[in-house]
Amino acid sequence: IVAGVREKAPQIATRAEFESYKATISGPKGSLTEVMKGMGKVPKEDKPAMGKLINEAKTAVTAEFKAVVERLEAAELAAKLGPDIDPSLPSPDLNRGTIHPIAQVRDEMVNLFRRIGFSVAEATEVETEHYCFDALNIPSDHPARDMQDSYYLPEELKVGNVSKHVDEKYLLRTHTSTVQIRTMLEEEPPIRIVAPGRCFRRDTPDATHSANFHQIEGLYVDKDVSLMDLKATLDHFVKTIFGPKAKTRLRPSFFPFTEPSFEMDFFSPDLGKLSNKWLEIMGCGMVDPEVFKAVNIDPDVYTGYAFGMGIERIAMILQGVDDIRYYYQNDVRFLKQFA
Ligand code: PHE
Repeated sequence: IVAGVREKAPQIATRAEFESYKATISGPKGSLTEVMKGMGKVPKEDKPAMGKLINEAKTAVTAEFKAVVERLEAAELAAKLGPDIDPSLPSPDLNRGTIHPIAQVRDEMVNLFRRIGFSVAEATEVETEHYCFDALNIPSDHPARDMQDSYYLPEELKVGNVSKHVDEKYLLRTHTSTVQIRTMLEEEPPIRIVAPGRCFRRDTPDATHSANFHQIEGLYVDKDVSLMDLKATLDHFVKTIFGPKAKTRLRPSFFPFTEPSFEMDFFSPDLGKLSNKWLEIMGCGMVDPEVFKAVNIDPDVYTGYAFGMGIERIAMILQGVDDIRYYYQNDVRFLKQFA
């Protein structure tokens, strides 16, 4: 019996096969069971020797069966796990995308203004001369309107979703100040918005210029809005973004759509290499009464402030990037540094 089991056991391939074979050996009618039942007929003097033989056979058969079960279990587990895996191999590159560094800074700035009551406004990147210039009190002989500075669209092009004021030309907006006009035409004061977006100028690309770039515009219109409100808002902005010890200053400047107009500079001791250097980051001022007239808001009742800044400029300061062109080359080695 034992010799038979030793020969058969290694060939058993499935559990069902094993169970039926096992029954023929140790089941109620199995061969080993029959031998044990025969013990009663064995002469008394032969019993000890016979008992010993049977026990040895039982032990041997049990060991064979145990080996079969272990072998079948191992095979079942391997089938569940699939092909062999080598845990020492490098894992597959998942190549997860990251938020673009310009988008990160944009979101940080927008969220900051949202927390102090601004909502987000948007308008199209294609605009007309009226919304980009005329309504902002930029006269037709202003250099910004020169073909050198703006991307005009072909005359025959129809842009369905961008409304014209009269029959002026389409162009790509040169600043986000267009959103001031579109918003004031649609909403009644009080108005408190920030408008992030892409702008375009015919600039020759270099370390600080790019033909496409981003701005954030701010506009607050209400009764009794003063220069103090502007200064306090910008102070808060600069301290939040560049460090609590940052200081701001307003330098007189000129924009056709604000009066008075300023350039805002700041310095922050928390900026490493750039610490304690005055850095210019935005244009701002009080909304010019001519602009209010263009959008039918009464300048005798309402006042307002506006500001506009380049997101790339802020990002370069925060991220220590010294050439704006890195932002547009989509070089993963650059982008991953801001993951
Ligand atoms: N639109 C101006 C620019 O592009 C910035 C600005 C916005 C200035 C709002 C004053 C008020 O430079």
